[in-house]
Amino acid sequence: MEDVSSGKLKKLRDFINMKFGIYIDDDKLLSMYKKKFSKLMEQFDYKDFSSFHRDIVFNKNSELVKELISTVTVNETYFFREKHQFDTLINYVLPELDRIRPSSESINILSAPCSTGEEVYSIAIYLLEEGNLIKKRNFLLLGIDIDSEAIRKAREGLYPERSLIKLPENIIKKYFRKEGNLYRISDFLRRSVNFRVVNVLDKYAMKRLGKFDVIFSRNLLIYFDERNRREALSIYYSILKDGGYLFLGHAERVPDDFTLFEKIKLGESYIYRKAEVKDG
Ligand SMILES: C[S@@+](CC[C@H](N)C(=O)[O-])C[C@H]1O[C@@H](n2cnc3c(N)ncnc32)[C@H](O)[C@@H]1O
Repeated sequence: MEDVSSGKLKKLRDFINMKFGIYIDDDKLLSMYKKKFSKLMEQFDYKDFSSFHRDIVFNKNSELVKELISTVTVNETYFFREKHQFDTLINYVLPELDRIRPSSESINILSAPCSTGEEVYSIAIYLLEEGNLIKKRNFLLLGIDIDSEAIRKAREGLYPERSLIKLPENIIKKYFRKEGNLYRISDFLRRSVNFRVVNVLDKYAMKRLGKFDVIFSRNLLIYFDERNRREALSIYYSILKDGGYLFLGHAERVPDDFTLFEKIKLGESYIYRKAEVKDG
């Protein structure tokens, strides 16, 4: 295997940053990703870095691009992660949206990114446990992620015990079935949500998803650089309905000079509301 120069590695790093948003700093590039990329080259039988790089850039080998995406993404997630945000959603945000939206309209909730689906299913479980809102109107729950393997797992709904670590026993009993060492989410839950492979930075693909009342975008922007963070926030703004809400992860925030969202505290959570555009 050729010893790849740091210049060549940086070019691939910059492409990943531009295309998928994820930023890899120089230290990680040379200490971790150099090895990961050379393992990928071996796996796909590439002898030289230039053809490996070219096939990624020109999307000549879709399996390779999928594996590359799985290599550079962090899928860590679990049910009821930062539970206080689901409490805020169910106790404040959804009752308010239910009041102001015509009852014939569905309330659309997007989890971007959803990784292996735990966030989307957590919202569905919260809605079922609350019980009243779903009697009054339709809710549409959609999870998207750039990693097709994560989306496959989300659709499959089969989870290791560590994903359920924050779930109370009664919820596990009610919504899961044990299969060997794993837990299968109930078919009813699986059928009530949708998952798609989408890059949040692909603004055309994002717009094709439709308009949303609520977007959860937790633990994604931390992997982006400032430019892509702002780009993602602008895209969220454009697909949120007026008065819609944005939930970010605890280490993420909308920059102060980014006035398209206003920060509010509802219950125990700081969240963002799409700002009204003032005339004149
Ligand atoms: C740490 S998980 C977050 C999952 C969940 N929102 C949570 O907070 O538990 C980050 C996910 O972001 C996805 N991701 C990274 N870049 C993306 C992009 N440009 N578009 C869509 N998803 C992306 C990764 O594939 C990964 O599954």
